[in-house]
Amino acid sequence: MKIVEVRHPLIQHKLGLMRRAGISTKEFRELASEVASLLTYEATKDLQTVEQCIEGWAGPLTVHQIKGKKVTIVPVLRAGLGMLPGVLDMIPAAKVSVVGLQRDEETLKPIAYYEKLTGRMDERIAIIVDPMLATAGTLVATVDMLKAAGCKRIKGLFLVAAPEGLQRIEAAHPDVEIYTASIDERLNEHGYILPGLGDAGDKIFGTK
Ligand code: URA
Repeated sequence: MKIVEVRHPLIQHKLGLMRRAGISTKEFRELASEVASLLTYEATKDLQTVEQCIEGWAGPLTVHQIKGKKVTIVPVLRAGLGMLPGVLDMIPAAKVSVVGLQRDEETLKPIAYYEKLTGRMDERIAIIVDPMLATAGTLVATVDMLKAAGCKRIKGLFLVAAPEGLQRIEAAHPDVEIYTASIDERLNEHGYILPGLGDAGDKIFGTK
């Protein structure tokens, strides 16, 4: 399975700022988006391009353009919305497929309460965005949903990932590619990542 911990100095610096206790909503939100941009840069390195002949300012020339139906970004409600602006800064023409999952109180399994996917999912690379890859319950369910819609190529961008979650997604969907700014130490007894970022959704939206 492809798991990339993107150890770029800019990413490490920004993530370090995000880990400070008492960080403001404004700063956390800005940094989440900036790190998302940098992860997008890394995760799209292998996109295929095609040559195109254009009329340039000094005459005809050949340029490279991204091939095919391109990508759809898949923010997972609600915290994934915090990474969306940064991803769209890098891929402004991307279609956005929003998903929302919540835990079923009886089975404890994540079930979809919202699913609005763009068309031709079978022709697109789906890029899931969610700040925290913790237990991977939500990620496994999101990938199940995308595969059911025909997706063949799926990547996931996470600010922070826990080893437990990485193991789980590798067992369930080894074909998914993971890009994260940090593989942290572990989950605590409440399913929070340590050292982690705390509740990323609350920090992005300024709730609680
Ligand atoms: N969700 C969060 O927001 N933080 C964690 O540490 C784990 C899941």
